Amino acid sequence: MRDWQDAWWNALYSNGGFFTRGERPAGHFRTAPLVGPELAEALLVLLDRVDHGLGRPSTVDFVDMGAGGGELAETVLRLAPPRLSSRLRVTAVDLGPSRDIPGVHWFHELPEQVLGLLVGHEWLDAIPCPVITVHNGLIRRVLVDEHGAEQPGPEAGAAERDWLRRWWPGAHRAEVGTTRDAAWAAALARVRGAALAVDYGHLAADRPGDGTLTGYRSGRQVRPVPDGSCDLTAHVAMDACASAAAAGSTVLSTQSAALRALGLTAATPPSGLAATDPAAWLSATAAAGRAHELLDPAGLGGFHWLLQSTAGTPAPQLMRA
Ligand SMILES: C[S@@+](CC[C@H](N)C(=O)[O-])C[C@H]1O[C@@H](n2cnc3c(N)ncnc32)[C@H](O)[C@@H]1O
Repeated sequence: MRDWQDAWWNALYSNGGFFTRGERPAGHFRTAPLVGPELAEALLVLLDRVDHGLGRPSTVDFVDMGAGGGELAETVLRLAPPRLSSRLRVTAVDLGPSRDIPGVHWFHELPEQVLGLLVGHEWLDAIPCPVITVHNGLIRRVLVDEHGAEQPGPEAGAAERDWLRRWWPGAHRAEVGTTRDAAWAAALARVRGAALAVDYGHLAADRPGDGTLTGYRSGRQVRPVPDGSCDLTAHVAMDACASAAAAGSTVLSTQSAALRALGLTAATPPSGLAATDPAAWLSATAAAGRAHELLDPAGLGGFHWLLQSTAGTPAPQLMRA
């Protein structure tokens, strides 16, 4: 038996772990960058606003943090408008193997300084964190074996107990967000401009009572077993991350509201277009379908966006919307 947080880390990120051995997230679950170019297009609108706030510096960064297969970075680079493209530096950061995408810089660690926009798309949920259970008021860490069998372990430390009291009181079982808070705060500290976390998560008002730790393999949700055979993930306490970082301004939004604020619509083309330009009608109809998937409040549209500008830099316009 070992502590869940260690077992989780080992299963995903040790030598030969699920992500370090090069499993592509795209092979196991569908994320918004894989739907089509629409997310990248919206993020380019946001990047343009951040760039404007920074006074259009000679180099502006777009950083895809926890990039997986680098699909988002690749699309952002490909679709950047001329106003950005000549100054744009696109960087992908992942603990897993680098991908060879022309024009995209790959690192295993976040560079010291980012001037522009950092996006962690489904990054924070992949950061292992302590799993606790509460019995008769005693908060204990959960232990797990390689088959996924669990038992209560030692009492949780003061940091976990404090976090739980502040952010998730009343939980019977929970994933304690201290590691995600710290990762987010550390990332934001390297940025001048803005940082955006997009993830499935919860806020104080809607936290489940029993935690959300689960596994994914080949497109299916599976029992979380820390043997390296599946992704392991848990929803992110987005409000806790927001309050951990030293930010100039903060917006917490749903993906659906944020994407609409950046101009995405799922409007279908006029039916007359099918007769006059069938190819254009087909392409616009497909784009509307993809936008619908990104905006659907019961699906990807229900994802949380945490957007924070860094102290001393103007908030991009989404923040005032
Ligand atoms: C759920 S996948 C998301 C991939 C991609 N962003 C997407 O949305 O399709 C999470 C990724 O975050 C990476 N990751 C987790 N912690 C990391 C860290 N501290 N530094 C860099 N990458 C990390 C994992 O290796 C994995 O590829």
